[in-house]
Amino acid sequence: MQAIVLVGGEGTRLRPLTDTVPKPALPLVDRPFLAYMIEWLGEHGVTEAVLACGFLPDQLREALGDGEHAGVALTYVVEPDRRGTAGAIRFAAEALGERLEDRFLALNGDVLTDLDLTALQRSHAERGARATLGLYAVEDSAAFGLVDCDAAGAVLAFTEKTGRAEPGAINAGAYVLERSVLDLIPAGRQVSIETEVFPRLVGDGLCALPLDGYWMDIGTPERYLQATWDILEGRVATAVLPTAPGLFVVAGGAVAESARIGPRAVVSAGCSVGSGAEVAGSVLLADCEVGEGARVHDSVLGAGTVVAAGAEVRGAIVGAHERVGAKR
Ligand code: GDD
Ligand code: MG
Repeated sequence: MQAIVLVGGEGTRLRPLTDTVPKPALPLVDRPFLAYMIEWLGEHGVTEAVLACGFLPDQLREALGDGEHAGVALTYVVEPDRRGTAGAIRFAAEALGERLEDRFLALNGDVLTDLDLTALQRSHAERGARATLGLYAVEDSAAFGLVDCDAAGAVLAFTEKTGRAEPGAINAGAYVLERSVLDLIPAGRQVSIETEVFPRLVGDGLCALPLDGYWMDIGTPERYLQATWDILEGRVATAVLPTAPGLFVVAGGAVAESARIGPRAVVSAGCSVGSGAEVAGSVLLADCEVGEGARVHDSVLGAGTVVAAGAEVRGAIVGAHERVGAKR
């Protein structure tokens, strides 16, 4: 199975962390965020993923490498200008050319999930659908695509971002598509699959399947931190091995014995934490330095950040290579 993964967004709500690193390459616990998605795809029969990039494609390539990850062959395609969700799928499909299979997966690349993609593919095949959307039940559907379907799974309505804080079955950003869907996407311009393609497929082969499991859009600092604890506390199926529940401290790091790490913390490779310092509810990306007696609470420190001895950081997202001084 082939998959087209949309990774063209800029991740603006995670600035300043995403100033230098595109969101899919941002480390989550011990690996780039996108690695989770590729590993998940690999578990559901995907052997080739095309990463549809827009923003900072080189860093993405650096983070995951060329070749393959977890048994999935990786190809990168870069749109010359913003194409929107459907336009990007079309552009990536054209890049594959004749190699594109008649049926493939398309995914929003900004969610952490373990939903059952195998069940989605099976349901698509059994119904002979043109497109099948994975659905996920949420309490507040306002910021998502809201999907109404009948008992047999035929979609009756697809409404993108209703703005109404109501519970509902939302578009989880995981689709099985027949190649013929590409004919509905005009070439060479920005096209949204949510507003321009799915509404046209209602009544014409658009199906959906509600899925159980873990699903989270990691687009904000709060959700980035929550996803970290969900991985480390076993609420999502991943290959990460926590140091202890809620905790990930890279082996061999320079953490002083009297430093207090946790509850809930990530201390990445190359970090040092001085004596008497506290790191709680926080993520230290690579090569951070937390000085003696400093306190870091409910924060994310970008790579190479230095927190001076005795300084305090609370509820902050600090960009890479910043210096946080002590209060006088
Ligand atoms: N390559 C490429 N080019 N990727 C793009 C482009 C583009 O022009 N525009 C958006 N993307 C990627 C984003 O990086 C993201 O991975 C995905 O497409 C979805 O775009 P978002 O901008 O994150 O959309 P959203 O989160 O507001 O809404 C979408 O996702 C929801 C689930 O998280 C919609 O698909 C909703 O219907 C859905 O519920
Ligand atoms: Mg999104």
